[in-house]
Amino acid sequence: MNQSPKEVAGRRAAEFVTDGMTLGLGTGSTVYFTLLALSERIRAGHLRVRGVPTSLDTERKALELGIPLATLDEVESLDLCIDGADEIDGDFAMVKGGGGALLREKVVASIARRVVIVVGPEKVVPRLGTTFALPVEVAPFARPVVRRALAKLGCEPKLRTTRDGATYLTDNHNEILDCRFASGIADVPALERAIDAIPGVVESGLFVGLAHALVIGHPDGRAEVRQR
Ligand code: 5RP
Repeated sequence: MNQSPKEVAGRRAAEFVTDGMTLGLGTGSTVYFTLLALSERIRAGHLRVRGVPTSLDTERKALELGIPLATLDEVESLDLCIDGADEIDGDFAMVKGGGGALLREKVVASIARRVVIVVGPEKVVPRLGTTFALPVEVAPFARPVVRRALAKLGCEPKLRTTRDGATYLTDNHNEILDCRFASGIADVPALERAIDAIPGVVESGLFVGLAHALVIGHPDGRAEVRQR
């Protein structure tokens, strides 16, 4: 029977969560299944955890599911962060931000002792930037400057809009330029440094050296766990 790879991966990653942990709660439709699995254990009285959400969407879902939350004022470090990705390569470098939560996701991952990424098999790619445009969060004032500087790095930046054509705004009230690289990203760390050096860039969706483990869900119900 065909199963949802997102559900397989999301639920398998929840098994890494043990009693008393402080968690980073990622954003997206795969992590949603992690939240569901955690909620079931919490409601059954088998698990006590606190989670720092990486988006307003995750905050709302976690509250609905009865997962206790904490803020960055209250926790200095996290035991474990579970999050999704839009692309991940063999070095566990990632493109993230399809859901617009890249800034909070990177901040939360940066204070986690262990970061576990949950994906379906189609997200695992030999070269980043081949299946997904790289999201870059920018301060609205700086957008024209950043757009020109990004284009000089060899991509085609496109302002993200909502379904009704309005400019998309992140939870932090910034805009997103989705950057399409015709042949993918050749040198990920060099591109990350170059983007971070552009004034007006708030954060890039390139996540390098942050993930420790990868859970790939397969339609046959198998969850493949890879460690870095
Ligand atoms: C949001 C993200 C998500 O983790 C990424 O888009 C994956 O989402 P999904 O699990 O729904 O495919 O980076 O900013």
